Amino acid sequence: MNKLLVIHGPNLNMLGKREHKHYDSLTLEEVNEKILHKAKENNFKVDIYQSNSEGEIITKLHSAIDKYQGIIINPGAYTHYSIAIRDALKILTIPIIEVHLSNIYSREEFRHNSVIAPVCTGQISGLGHVSYLIALDAFKNLMGGYNE
Ligand code: DQA
Repeated sequence: MNKLLVIHGPNLNMLGKREHKHYDSLTLEEVNEKILHKAKENNFKVDIYQSNSEGEIITKLHSAIDKYQGIIINPGAYTHYSIAIRDALKILTIPIIEVHLSNIYSREEFRHNSVIAPVCTGQISGLGHVSYLIALDAFKNLMGGYNE
Protein backbone atom coordinates (compact mmCIF):
# COMPACT_ATOMS: atom_id res chain seq x y z
CA MET A 1 0.00 0.00 0.00
CA ASN A 2 1.33 3.45 -0.91
CA LYS A 3 2.34 5.65 1.99
CA LEU A 4 1.92 9.42 1.98
CA LEU A 5 3.23 12.04 4.38
CA VAL A 6 1.07 15.09 5.15
CA ILE A 7 2.94 18.07 6.61
CA HIS A 8 1.20 21.03 8.20
CA GLY A 9 3.43 24.04 8.76
CA PRO A 10 3.40 26.89 11.29
CA ASN A 11 0.20 28.13 12.93
CA LEU A 12 -1.91 25.37 11.41
CA ASN A 13 -2.17 23.83 14.88
CA MET A 14 -4.28 26.92 15.66
CA LEU A 15 -6.97 26.11 13.08
CA GLY A 16 -10.42 26.61 14.54
CA LYS A 17 -9.14 29.63 16.46
CA ARG A 18 -7.73 31.38 13.38
CA GLU A 19 -9.35 33.87 10.95
CA HIS A 20 -12.43 31.86 9.94
CA LYS A 21 -12.80 34.11 6.91
CA HIS A 22 -9.70 32.56 5.35
CA TYR A 23 -9.47 29.19 7.07
CA ASP A 24 -12.05 26.58 7.93
CA SER A 25 -13.69 26.74 11.31
CA LEU A 26 -12.54 23.14 11.70
CA THR A 27 -9.73 22.38 14.13
CA LEU A 28 -6.56 20.69 12.87
CA GLU A 29 -7.69 17.50 14.58
CA GLU A 30 -10.97 17.57 12.64
CA VAL A 31 -9.13 18.27 9.37
CA ASN A 32 -6.80 15.36 10.11
CA GLU A 33 -9.78 13.04 10.73
CA LYS A 34 -11.14 13.95 7.30
CA ILE A 35 -7.73 13.36 5.71
CA LEU A 36 -7.42 9.94 7.37
CA HIS A 37 -10.97 8.99 6.34
CA LYS A 38 -10.36 9.94 2.70
CA ALA A 39 -6.95 8.23 2.70
CA LYS A 40 -8.59 5.01 3.85
CA GLU A 41 -11.17 5.28 1.06
CA ASN A 42 -8.36 5.80 -1.48
CA ASN A 43 -6.36 2.93 0.03
CA PHE A 44 -3.42 5.03 1.19
CA LYS A 45 -1.56 4.85 4.45
CA VAL A 46 -1.01 8.41 5.67
CA ASP A 47 1.24 9.83 8.38
CA ILE A 48 0.46 13.37 9.51
CA TYR A 49 2.99 15.78 10.98
CA GLN A 50 2.66 19.38 12.18
CA SER A 51 5.46 21.70 13.19
CA ASN A 52 5.88 25.40 13.77
CA SER A 53 9.59 25.16 13.09
CA GLU A 54 11.34 25.36 9.72
CA GLY A 55 14.23 23.12 10.87
CA GLU A 56 11.87 20.42 12.14
CA ILE A 57 9.97 20.39 8.86
CA ILE A 58 13.25 20.03 6.97
CA THR A 59 14.41 17.17 9.21
CA LYS A 60 11.04 15.45 8.67
CA LEU A 61 11.44 15.82 4.90
CA HIS A 62 14.93 14.27 5.08
CA SER A 63 13.51 11.33 7.00
CA ALA A 64 10.83 10.85 4.30
CA ILE A 65 13.40 9.67 1.76
CA ASP A 66 12.67 6.04 0.77
CA LYS A 67 9.80 5.93 3.26
CA TYR A 68 6.93 7.57 1.39
CA GLN A 69 5.62 7.58 -2.15
CA GLY A 70 4.23 11.11 -1.96
CA ILE A 71 4.08 14.29 0.11
CA ILE A 72 1.23 16.71 0.75
CA ILE A 73 2.56 19.90 2.31
CA ASN A 74 0.94 23.09 3.55
CA PRO A 75 4.04 25.11 4.45
CA GLY A 76 1.98 27.96 5.98
CA ALA A 77 3.83 31.28 5.82
CA TYR A 78 7.07 29.44 4.89
CA THR A 79 5.44 29.05 1.47
CA HIS A 80 6.37 32.59 0.68
CA TYR A 81 10.03 32.68 1.68
CA SER A 82 11.57 29.40 2.81
CA ILE A 83 14.26 28.51 0.30
CA ALA A 84 15.45 25.95 2.88
CA ILE A 85 12.14 24.02 2.72
CA ARG A 86 12.18 24.32 -1.07
CA ASP A 87 15.72 22.86 -1.17
CA ALA A 88 14.68 19.98 1.12
CA LEU A 89 11.68 19.21 -1.13
CA LYS A 90 13.95 19.29 -4.16
CA ILE A 91 16.01 16.40 -2.73
CA LEU A 92 12.92 14.15 -2.85
CA THR A 93 12.19 12.34 -6.08
CA ILE A 94 8.54 11.56 -5.28
CA PRO A 95 5.42 13.60 -6.23
CA ILE A 96 4.74 16.56 -3.94
CA ILE A 97 1.47 18.50 -3.75
CA GLU A 98 1.41 21.94 -2.11
CA VAL A 99 -1.92 22.77 -0.48
CA HIS A 100 -3.47 25.88 1.05
CA LEU A 101 -6.77 26.28 2.82
CA SER A 102 -7.13 29.89 1.66
CA ASN A 103 -6.76 31.22 -1.86
CA ILE A 104 -3.29 32.73 -1.54
CA TYR A 105 -3.81 34.67 -4.81
CA SER A 106 -6.83 36.58 -3.52
CA ARG A 107 -5.08 37.78 -0.36
CA GLU A 108 -2.23 40.21 0.39
CA GLU A 109 0.33 40.54 -2.36
CA PHE A 110 3.11 38.99 -0.27
CA ARG A 111 1.12 35.72 -0.30
CA HIS A 112 0.85 35.61 -4.10
CA ASN A 113 4.31 34.15 -4.55
CA SER A 114 5.12 30.59 -3.51
CA VAL A 115 8.83 29.72 -3.54
CA ILE A 116 7.71 26.11 -2.97
CA ALA A 117 5.45 25.71 -6.03
CA PRO A 118 8.23 25.37 -8.65
CA VAL A 119 9.55 22.19 -6.96
CA CYS A 120 6.09 20.64 -6.54
CA THR A 121 4.07 18.47 -8.89
CA GLY A 122 1.03 20.70 -8.35
CA GLN A 123 -0.69 23.14 -6.05
CA ILE A 124 -4.25 23.28 -4.63
CA SER A 125 -5.34 26.53 -3.00
CA GLY A 126 -8.53 28.07 -1.67
CA LEU A 127 -10.83 25.14 -0.95
CA GLY A 128 -10.54 25.01 2.83
CA HIS A 129 -9.89 21.53 4.21
CA VAL A 130 -11.11 20.13 0.87
CA SER A 131 -7.75 21.23 -0.62
CA TYR A 132 -6.17 18.31 1.27
CA LEU A 133 -8.87 15.86 0.14
CA ILE A 134 -8.43 16.86 -3.50
CA ALA A 135 -4.68 16.35 -3.08
CA LEU A 136 -5.45 12.77 -2.00
CA ASP A 137 -7.59 12.30 -5.12
CA ALA A 138 -4.74 13.69 -7.20
CA PHE A 139 -2.43 11.09 -5.67
CA LYS A 140 -4.90 8.33 -6.49
CA ASN A 141 -4.71 9.52 -10.08
CA LEU A 142 -0.93 9.98 -10.08
CA MET A 143 -0.44 6.49 -8.75
CA GLY A 144 -2.69 4.88 -11.27
CA GLY A 145 -5.95 4.35 -9.43
CA TYR A 146 -6.51 2.19 -6.42
CA ASN A 147 -3.46 0.48 -5.03
CA GLU A 148 -3.02 -2.49 -2.73
C1 DQA B 1 -1.82 29.10 4.29
C2 DQA B 1 -1.61 30.44 3.55
C3 DQA B 1 -0.38 31.15 4.07
O1 DQA B 1 -0.22 32.40 3.40
C4 DQA B 1 -0.51 31.43 5.55
O2 DQA B 1 0.66 32.03 6.05
C5 DQA B 1 -0.86 30.21 6.35
C6 DQA B 1 -1.84 29.28 5.80
C7 DQA B 1 -3.15 28.43 3.89
O3 DQA B 1 -3.32 27.25 4.15
O4 DQA B 1 -4.04 29.09 3.36
O5 DQA B 1 -0.40 30.01 7.46
O6 DQA B 1 -0.78 28.22 3.94
